[in-house]
Amino acid sequence: MGLVTSKSEKPVLKLSPQGDYLSWDDCYAGIHWMARTGGGKTTAASVLAAGLLRGQAGGCVTVAKSSDIALWKHYAKKHGRSESIVLFDENAGFNFLDYDLARHGMDGASGSVVEALMKVIDAARNTSSAASHRPGDVFWEDSMRECLRYTIPALYAANGSVSIPDIIRFVSTAPATLRDPVDRAWQARSFMYKKLNAALCEPKVPMSEAALTNAISFWSERWASMPEKTKGNVVATISSTLDRFNHGKLNRAFCQRTTIVPELSLGGMVTLLAMPTHTWNEVGVIAQKIFKFYFIRMVLTRNSLPQKYRDRPLFIFSDEAQETVDSEDG
Ligand SMILES: Nc1ncnc2c1ncn2[C@@H]1O[C@H](COP(=O)(O)OP(=O)(O)O)[C@@H](O)[C@H]1O
Ligand SMILES: [Mg+2]
Repeated sequence: MGLVTSKSEKPVLKLSPQGDYLSWDDCYAGIHWMARTGGGKTTAASVLAAGLLRGQAGGCVTVAKSSDIALWKHYAKKHGRSESIVLFDENAGFNFLDYDLARHGMDGASGSVVEALMKVIDAARNTSSAASHRPGDVFWEDSMRECLRYTIPALYAANGSVSIPDIIRFVSTAPATLRDPVDRAWQARSFMYKKLNAALCEPKVPMSEAALTNAISFWSERWASMPEKTKGNVVATISSTLDRFNHGKLNRAFCQRTTIVPELSLGGMVTLLAMPTHTWNEVGVIAQKIFKFYFIRMVLTRNSLPQKYRDRPLFIFSDEAQETVDSEDG
């Protein structure tokens, strides 16, 4: 498990009758349990869970086994925190695109939304048995990031919102050649052309002239002159990974309404990511990684919030952490 929040030497747990104790600062450094199966990791970690709950911490709990949900409900009841538990299950939703754009607007569309989508694509690719990392992936990553950076702001400007199906349609109708952008037949059938035109002539959210000029010249010149194979791979990767959000559990959890946001933890709520990886498989892994990514980002930026939102200790608790661990977990 890892913890991220402000400094405090105050005790979380008494460790000995002589007055030794585990402080919040100790916890913020991150605590890990390593032992063989049946070695007592879950049992030992339950003592820390008790300290965190009794210390009124807010948090996010990843769930590998279905039984972890009942276990955490049991911990919460035992330590007087039943009211603080929120389940992110089939009935809950977190529309991360709406959430990001509502908070950051056009700045978010060109920055944080792009990074979040890169994270989503990464999580989806890393958990997919078919699409493992290949040599030269840094290059693919840069190409995909660039592609998204010139997609999201334009769609946001044209529509005032961004949806996964629109991202897929936009990149799938990019020009294949340098002639396409000036070809009337291509213009008539290209969704990208329509949206860039709307962003230019009748924007719902205005985009800076420089940013729009960059986007138009990227698609009509740089993209159009890229090798066929590169374009094909970038579009295929974006389409196939994001297509998972067009149906099923990922669509319900992340593309519909929002009932849960990471900020709930600032008021002391503990979100159980009740999408057990052992039963939801890849979808559970992707879903938990996405929420965890936004949770960490919220914690890292909370210093810009009023003081009353900055003081509460916050935690991420992951039993069987190998299932959902990620590069930014500290
Ligand atoms: N200190 C201990 N002494 C005796 N039994 C223990 C101790 N810690 C754990 N156990 C028991 O060992 C079993 C496995 O513990 P568990 O915490 O689930 O292991 P892990 O999470 O490492 O797989 C459980 O039945 C638990 O009750
Ligand atoms: Mg265990």
